Amino acid sequence: MQQIIYSRNVAADLTQLLGGLHYDRLFLLTDENTHRLCRPLLKGSLAEQAESIVIGATDENKTPETLMAVWQALCNGGATRHSLLICLGGGMVTDLGGFAAATFKRGIKFVNIPTTLLSMVDAAVGGKTGINFNGLKNEIGAFREADAVIVSTDFLHTLDDLNMCSGYAEMLKHALLDGDRMWAEHLNFDVYSFDFSLLPTLVKESIVLKQRVVQEDPHEQGLRKALNLGHTVGHAFESLALQRQNTVFHGYAVAWGLVCELFLSTLFGFPVEKMRQTFAFIREHYGRFNFTCDDYETLYAYMQHDKKNMGGHINFTLLEDVGRVKLDCRVSKEDVFAAFDFLREG
Ligand code: GLY
Repeated sequence: MQQIIYSRNVAADLTQLLGGLHYDRLFLLTDENTHRLCRPLLKGSLAEQAESIVIGATDENKTPETLMAVWQALCNGGATRHSLLICLGGGMVTDLGGFAAATFKRGIKFVNIPTTLLSMVDAAVGGKTGINFNGLKNEIGAFREADAVIVSTDFLHTLDDLNMCSGYAEMLKHALLDGDRMWAEHLNFDVYSFDFSLLPTLVKESIVLKQRVVQEDPHEQGLRKALNLGHTVGHAFESLALQRQNTVFHGYAVAWGLVCELFLSTLFGFPVEKMRQTFAFIREHYGRFNFTCDDYETLYAYMQHDKKNMGGHINFTLLEDVGRVKLDCRVSKEDVFAAFDFLREG
């Protein structure tokens, strides 16, 4: 299983980790934000000896051009196939850096140090790497797990509330996949004022759940599709927002997607009361997605074109109950529209 280090002292743990990994040259990939805000937490570690590569922040830079710039920086720095890349950042940095490492000289070692809640519980773990291409998210990529992931909630002290809530939506998704105890625990967590003494435990629970799923199905042939809960509808919301040049945070779209997909899950036996409780939590913390019934056809078309579907059929990951996943579910278009109505009108 992928090595995850739950750290209370990133600099010391990184130095210890690097001491046990064999490499010739060391590189540190950051974006402009993590270079400024997160790199100082590595002070005193072996990472200070690394050649620094800094790329532009945000998803707009998750491009072939940025990837080429990273390859070029590795070449310029004399990287060999025995070199090691540390990726310090959110999902954009760990996805792109992981793909650069997976492809440079057919693969060099890399270590992820996620700095956002979203990347800690999702992107940095499980081996999906990639870049955006042709207007599509993560269109080019490879499955390649980092040699190790260092997880420290210390990085989250500089993260804003919107990004914290965004990451928390993936944790809520993991809780729904896990079972009643974790689900209730997550509905009771105070998202308005994150308790940093409790957060490391919740983050670890989330990562353990994800690892359990990924270990069983690393290349998403079956069970890993469970991690798409909330994402079939959520991605359509993201695409609609993007079309209106009005981007939404990924986790917010997933949270609204979860509401719709739990509504659809009730057709497969998911308890209505649990759906309503989850909906109340999401309405309170994530507000509303701004759309009308005039958007339904467009949203449906986005869902049909999702790269996870085939032949125009939409395959949903749904739940029969909290902790009981049902993969590859088909529902009628009318039911999908009813789910949209439910999200808008409750
Ligand atoms: N983000 C979902 C997965 O890693 O499969």
